[in-house]
Amino acid sequence: MSVIISNIGELVTNDPADGEGELGILRDAAMVIQGDRVVWVGPSADAPEADDFYDARGRAVLPGFVDSHAHLVFAGERAEEYAARMSGQPYAAGGILTTVTATRAASDADLRANLTRLVDEMARQGTTTVECKSGYGLTAADEERAVRIASEVVDEVTFLGAHVVPGEYAHDPQTYVNLVKGEMLAACAPYARWIDVFCERGAFDPDQTREIIEAGVKAGLLPRLHANQLGHGPGVQLAVAYGAASADHCTFLSDRDVDALAGSETVATLLPGVEFSTRQPYPDARWLIEAGATVALATDCNPGSCYTSSMAFCIALAVREMKMTPAEAVWAATAGGARALRRGDVGHLTVGARADVLMLDAPSHVHLAYRPGVPQVAAVWRAGRIAW
Ligand code: NIG
Ligand code: FE
Repeated sequence: MSVIISNIGELVTNDPADGEGELGILRDAAMVIQGDRVVWVGPSADAPEADDFYDARGRAVLPGFVDSHAHLVFAGERAEEYAARMSGQPYAAGGILTTVTATRAASDADLRANLTRLVDEMARQGTTTVECKSGYGLTAADEERAVRIASEVVDEVTFLGAHVVPGEYAHDPQTYVNLVKGEMLAACAPYARWIDVFCERGAFDPDQTREIIEAGVKAGLLPRLHANQLGHGPGVQLAVAYGAASADHCTFLSDRDVDALAGSETVATLLPGVEFSTRQPYPDARWLIEAGATVALATDCNPGSCYTSSMAFCIALAVREMKMTPAEAVWAATAGGARALRRGDVGHLTVGARADVLMLDAPSHVHLAYRPGVPQVAAVWRAGRIAW
């Protein structure tokens, strides 16, 4: 079964060899999907026949968003913490424990329903690849169920037993680190591709981070790190030293951190919704881009530091607050996210890509930043099927 999408006003392929600029834009274009893949892209006038036909009527078509950082297996919410923050309370990692208590008390069915609700919410907004972390269970059994349930629903699963030290180990954090590296990792590794550590003052220090990453890598997981979110620290350097796919947050960076990222394959994943929702300064995206680092954008959707599931909102923030161009922001939210997940099949619309397609109710990708807060999704295909 093949379908042709024709009369595309602007097709963002993300391959500069296919079209204009870094987004590889084709105008008056068409695209053919066969099964779950893109099999043809080119000018509408040259398009081949297909079984089914969809008229884009001049609108823009982009790769579906790749949200490479989210925490979606949880129960409850923390609206009051947000309200207190907006009245001047600082964000502190300790709020995570409120969600841990609610998550431990929830049933599997409740966790699955909340996760599915959020992934559906993302799909409606054009996100077709989702990464989801554990980290609100913090016992071997609760972390195992988080990664197991996540693996039923999303593409990319990350074991984040090292999110914070739970209250019962507050006086003996090393015993908790040993649990994460031992029984918890063994229970979670079969369901996860990635290992993550919240390397930050108040969470895990550099030695603990090293121990946990090394154990994860030994168990066959690939590293990614929460780094330099709340202050300067060793997170980015550790991420680069371990060849992590991504260093996430990157809010407080030194010259050395930027040089390290620029000279590595580690993607700097920026999460501007967090700065928006915690009233922190935004990361210096221009510094990273001009130094030559690869930048991705993601939501960090979670009930504490940032409860948005909207990649379009993150693009608008990146453009307005971090001075990224609309093209840079759209690339970072699609191809950048794919790099941060080491995925070659998503984040672009060239022949062979998974047919993850976002059609906007707008003539160009610029409208994502130009019309903040406005729903502009006309249709979404995921792996060749209409997802919304
Ligand atoms: O990425 N930084 C650590 N973890 C999350 C916040 C989780 C929470 O506050 O519940 C983050 O911002
Ligand atoms: Fe996070």
